[in-house]
Amino acid sequence: MRIYREKNYEAMSQTAANIVAAQVKVKPDCLLGLATGSSPVGMYGVLAEKFRRGELDFSKVRSVNLDEYVGLAAWHPQSYRYFMRENLFSHVNIEPSNTHLPDGTATDPEEECRRYDRILEELGRVDLQVLGLGHNGHIGFNEPGDIFEKSTHVVNLQDSTIQANARFFDSFDQVPRRAITMGIASIMRARCILLLVSGESKAEIVKTALTGDITPRVPASVLQLHPNVMVVGDEEALKYL
Ligand code: GLP
Repeated sequence: MRIYREKNYEAMSQTAANIVAAQVKVKPDCLLGLATGSSPVGMYGVLAEKFRRGELDFSKVRSVNLDEYVGLAAWHPQSYRYFMRENLFSHVNIEPSNTHLPDGTATDPEEECRRYDRILEELGRVDLQVLGLGHNGHIGFNEPGDIFEKSTHVVNLQDSTIQANARFFDSFDQVPRRAITMGIASIMRARCILLLVSGESKAEIVKTALTGDITPRVPASVLQLHPNVMVVGDEEALKYL
């Protein structure tokens, strides 16, 4: 595990963007695993800037996202499809047909999970998987539980997760209670993982996840078993490491 300790959010976003940019340059048709949340927003901004300056070409890049809320359509401002369009896809020359997210409006969410797994299977191994970290140790929307869920599945979000994400909605009640998320095995299959952590509120869980017991009670702890993880964080989030 390599740890990049940066002064602040801006610096970590630059470093993370440099890592993604290097991946795109080395392998123009790479498969990127993408994440939402506030941690990667700055990184996406830097990537968009690199594209504007002519330093990056996304025309052959393919992407899969980790998760999506059940019930939110692509046009909903809090859907992850909308987030990706706003923060990255509409700013670079990635082909919309090369971008993949679970469909939150599928009439049968379980069937949608199987469809998403087939897409993951067809696309092959993710070259670089971007991850954020929930305060309870979740990655994607893999919440703490008794087992590491392998494949794409529907999750009931924990109250703490709903609470954490309520800041993006008008009220707690509007946050969807369920989501579709890629499973832990799919995340672990990536050749390389880029974990982004920012802010003091993440410091405790960063330490627990990266140095504590490996347990499905802390889903991100499984990353200790991955051979190629880069953690990019600001000083506050990494202060106990
Ligand atoms: C959400 C997302 C996760 C993300 C997490 C942390 O729950 N499903 O993929 O990593 O939030 O978000 P943030 O980066 O805003 O702290």
